[in-house]
Parts: sequence; structure tokens; C-alpha cells
Amino acid sequence: MDFLKFLKAVALAAAVVLPQSALASSDGPVLPKQDWKFVGIFGQFDQAALKRGARVAVEVCMACHSIKYIKFDALKKLGFTEAEVIALAEAQSRNKKDAMLSPMDATSAKDSFGVVPPDLSLMTKARKGYEDYLYAILNGYASDADRALVQKVMEDGSLSEQELLEVSSALGLNAHNPERVKEVLVRIQANENFNKYFPGNFFAMPQPLSDGSVTYPDGVENSLKQMSHDVTTFLAWAAEPTLMERKALGVKVMLYLMVLTVMFYAVKRRVWAKIHH
Ligand code: HEC
Repeated sequence: MDFLKFLKAVALAAAVVLPQSALASSDGPVLPKQDWKFVGIFGQFDQAALKRGARVAVEVCMACHSIKYIKFDALKKLGFTEAEVIALAEAQSRNKKDAMLSPMDATSAKDSFGVVPPDLSLMTKARKGYEDYLYAILNGYASDADRALVQKVMEDGSLSEQELLEVSSALGLNAHNPERVKEVLVRIQANENFNKYFPGNFFAMPQPLSDGSVTYPDGVENSLKQMSHDVTTFLAWAAEPTLMERKALGVKVMLYLMVLTVMFYAVKRRVWAKIHH
């Protein structure tokens, strides 16, 4: 009997929780899929992208975030020279043997933002959507065009059906919930940090990257999209610096097993060949 009660409770809990989580996931806009070179069995990191991404991470993200599981020294694996690594570390008042810790300590971060910026070492593995999510939030802030649109539709104080649809689609909001759309528009006008892809749309991180934020020595265009792609690639490496070795080992193991299968098959045929039916 107790067990039955337990089953009922589970069924009830599922009935309450499931539709909500289904709603929650259908609420935000779909994350645009990006082409990541390191995904798949034969996926490999793009070395040049890693190097550019490390620069973005150190020069921009580390003003607020730490990447505590990676040491500056490890950047040599990405092709930085000893002198470059020392320069990157010194720019953060660190030694090359130090972990990549932000100069901003937790207390002052909390004072400025109300929350401590999370460590980025494992970030690409920590959120639903993985790399696509990270890329999306870096690109998900309201653009100048979005702000102009918000200004325009809010001018006369009322939202027509047409305006509601237009602004909801531009900002990735649910047009079936006009009250929430209006609330979002007011907060955008109050200059809060709106982001299309961050759950809840408003968060404490001001837009960290925009076109031209970081100078690239290799001459690649430093657009917002390119820098977001590069820094995401770098953070995927930070989350799993041994990905290439793991995949290389995996392929070797597969080849080994295939050879072994062929050999066992040959042996089996030879052993059974002596048995006449
Ligand atoms: C000016 C400080 C600042 C800079 C610079 C900055 N961030 Fe943040 N970041 C924050 C704060 C504060 C939060 C916490 C936001 C919150 O939870 O509301 C955050 C949160 C995040 C999150 C977590 C989002 C989530 O789903 O919880 C990611 C990912 C992130 N930042 C990536 C980056 C990357 C990548 C860069 C560099 C391109 C960067 N940040 C630069 C302050 C900053």
C-alpha cells in the first residue's frame, strides 16, 4: 500500500513538474547552432582560433572571471611563446606558473554586480546548449537596432498587435505574453542588461564584447561573431585540454579492435576447418 502511495506521489510530481519544464524550455528562443570544429569523433581544435580566443579571454573576460583550472604556462600548448605567456600573465599581475585568476576578488565583484562572476574553466560543459549557449549569450544583447525599435514602439505608450509581434520577434520574446513583453521593454529602456538567450533575459553581466574589442595580431577580422567563436573555442579547450589526445586514443583503440576482430575470425575459421560435418 505504501508503495502504491509512493507511486502516486511520483506520478503527481511528474505531472506537476513536466509541463512546467516543457514550458520553460519552449519559452526562450532556440539557440542558433554553430559549426564547432572540435565536435565529433574526428573533431580537432583549430589552433589559430584557440590562440585568438585565449587573447580574448585574458584581455576581456578575465577582468571579471577566473579560469582557475588552467595555468598561464599551459597556454604554451596553444603556440604562445614563453615571452608571450609571461606578458599575458604580467598584464594580470600574475606569474606564468599561476592559475588564470581574475584580478577582481569575489568581494568587490559582489559589490559591483551583486553576484560573483562564475569561474569559466568548465563553463562550456556547465550549461544546457554547451558551446552554442556560450556563443549565443555573447551575441544575445540588444543591438542598437533593437534599442531603436524598443524606443519606437514605446513612444505612444501603447503596443499595437503589429508592434507587439515585431518587437517580440526581434528580441526573441513570447508574443503570447504581452504583459511580460511590456515589462521587458521598460527594463531595456532603463538600460538593464537584456539578453535574448539568458534564462529570464536580464543578468548582471554587461555586454563584454563588441566589434573590435580585441586586436588580433594574425589579421583575422575582429568582429563580435569571430571573437565570440574564438573565445568559446578557447573555453571548450579549457574545459577539456586533453580532448585531442582522448580522440586520438579512441581512434587507435577502434583500429586495434578491428584488427583483433579480423584476426579472431581467421583463427576461428582455421580451428573449425578441421571439423567435418
Ligand atoms: C565586467 C565584468 C564581466 C566581464 C568583462 C565578463 N563577464 Fe561574464 N559575467 C559577469 C557577471 C557579473 C556574471 C554573472 C551574471 C548573473 O548571474 O547575473 C557573468 C556571467 C557569465 C556567464 C554565465 C552565464 C550563465 O548562464 O549563468 C558566462 C558564460 C560568462 N559570464 C561569460 C563571459 C565571457 C566569455 C566573457 C568574455 C568575453 C565575460 N563573461 C566577460 C561579469 C563579466
